[in-house]
Amino acid sequence: MELIDGKAIAEVVKQEIAAEVAGIVARGGKHPHLAAILVGHDGGSETYVAAKVKACEVCGFKSTLIRYENDVTEEELLDRVRQLNEDEDIDGFIVQLPLPRHISEQKVIETIDHRKDVDGFHPINVGRMSIGLPCYVSATPNGILELIKRYNIETTGKKCVILGRSNIVGKPMAMLMMQKAYPGDATVTVCHSRSRDLIKECREADILIAALGQPHFVKADMVKEGAVVIDVGTTRVPSEKTRSGFKLTGDVLFEEVAPKCSYITPVPGGVGPMTIVSLMKNTLLAGKKEIYT
Ligand code: GUN
Repeated sequence: MELIDGKAIAEVVKQEIAAEVAGIVARGGKHPHLAAILVGHDGGSETYVAAKVKACEVCGFKSTLIRYENDVTEEELLDRVRQLNEDEDIDGFIVQLPLPRHISEQKVIETIDHRKDVDGFHPINVGRMSIGLPCYVSATPNGILELIKRYNIETTGKKCVILGRSNIVGKPMAMLMMQKAYPGDATVTVCHSRSRDLIKECREADILIAALGQPHFVKADMVKEGAVVIDVGTTRVPSEKTRSGFKLTGDVLFEEVAPKCSYITPVPGGVGPMTIVSLMKNTLLAGKKEIYT
């Protein structure tokens, strides 16, 4: 069994990005500029956005954090999004989700100019991704592809089972694993809460990607000997052992499953750090105007 060290790969990729940015700046170009809008004080969102701002620093990007309280109106937020769309100094921006209930996330996403949508959530980017056109691919699936590439994991002709059908992870992951490319060329099955014979499907998987958000859902008897297991779960479970008062818990019962795997991602330190790096990669592409001019 080989552990997929997302933390280490993420550091390497950030250094690669920083070197490229240094080259751009040396040739008279500008530092890529990412803006993030954060509404309210949700603990998870605070942590993620702080990590994104920190990663920008490491990569040599400029970053701008825009904060609103929970009572911001939808129109106020949409106006700020429209301003960022027009702001020539901003290469890309994100609106951290979830948003308060009185604000339509979909409306916010669709108001973002798809050319600056480095989260890859806008329907134009999702649509282009699904037919294999250049676009911003959302961070978690792209981070997983990067791990598969860096560990030279074979995907062609493999049976890939994805647990979860979210718009952010499950669905795009399925599209990417079936695309005519490497990583890809896999036979993909998507399982969800209404799937019959989910355990049987999992047992047949050469590559199992767990993105349900249910701690320790995947047990040893659901995994084939020699499978590659990618754990996307990051549920914050209360814990007295940590300073923060919670422990990030994956969808896979690691101790039990790991001995059966050829490769497995840990939680934390697997997929998580790669999602932030994927956002950095998209921001670099935005700065270089590589996808949309
Ligand atoms: N909330 C959880 N993951 C993400 C993400 O990748 N982007 C944004 N904007 N919000 C999130």
